[in-house]
Amino acid sequence: MADFLDINVTPENDLRRILDQAKSMKIARQGLPKGTKDGDTPLDGMMVALIFEKPSTRTRISFDVGVRQMGGQTMVLSGSEMQLGHGETIADTARVMSRYVDAIMIRTFEETTLLEMAEHASVPVINGLTNRTHPCQIMADVMTYEEHRGSIKGKKVVWSGDGNNVCASFLHAAEKFGFDMVFTGPETLDPEVAFVDAAIDAGVSVEIERDPIAAVQNADLVVTDTWISMHDSQTARERRHNQLRPYQVNEHLMSHAKPDALFMHCLPAHREEEATSAVMDGPNSVVFDEAENRLHAQKAIMRWCLGV
Ligand code: CP
Ligand code: NVA
Repeated sequence: MADFLDINVTPENDLRRILDQAKSMKIARQGLPKGTKDGDTPLDGMMVALIFEKPSTRTRISFDVGVRQMGGQTMVLSGSEMQLGHGETIADTARVMSRYVDAIMIRTFEETTLLEMAEHASVPVINGLTNRTHPCQIMADVMTYEEHRGSIKGKKVVWSGDGNNVCASFLHAAEKFGFDMVFTGPETLDPEVAFVDAAIDAGVSVEIERDPIAAVQNADLVVTDTWISMHDSQTARERRHNQLRPYQVNEHLMSHAKPDALFMHCLPAHREEEATSAVMDGPNSVVFDEAENRLHAQKAIMRWCLGV
């Protein structure tokens, strides 16, 4: 049994095994009508708790569906309705939940909440997003890239916009899957120095380029995300929008990347802000494949965590 806390703390071979299994489980279900059982039920008799302290569409539904497809059951909990949101410690919550359920997925604010939960739970804990990282998303993204273009090793991935939690997990993945990262965005929204330094120390080529057009030259993959994340204060909204507008991913920016460069966005998107509809719905966009692959990648992550 193991926790899935972040890509950089998961062994490389295991990450690759997870993606291989995700792919084979996806293929096994291809052509099956929704709701059809595929007979692969490694989570039979198991209960997975899904805790959300922030809103979610994809994470919530894909984990819920994934557990059920594998024969298990889920319990979707909102942090504010639990005693957790009313003063009970994370450690006590983790100990109690471990007596009832077989695994815990948590989407929370502070990374320390996730780490404390993992430390005190005796069942696997999965990171469903914190203010700092979003590893399940990037596992799905690497899977999506490789489905469309083959190995991501040695490719040039350009992140345009806010150097946020999703960007941080891309830096983790660059280390483990061997691709190059370029960040383009305003200096005040650079990814945390700790993530950049750790990636560089691990041998990743990380470049920071303020000019978005220069950044995307020769890019194999262009990625962006919302300009304001769930944990960000809304008060500086206008200033942020003004700072980030030059980093919008639009057809003009994409025209400077490789002609077959893919475009990704973890969603939810704010169309015409960080990315235009022309790009989101254009021929290079794989945003809905990314969303689908959350399901397959997370099923494989849960199997890895539970050793089934
Ligand atoms: N990409 C992602 O995690 O989406 P949700 O916030 O809808 O879960
Ligand atoms: N960066 C975004 C990702 C949402 C899936 C946020 O944290 O709100």
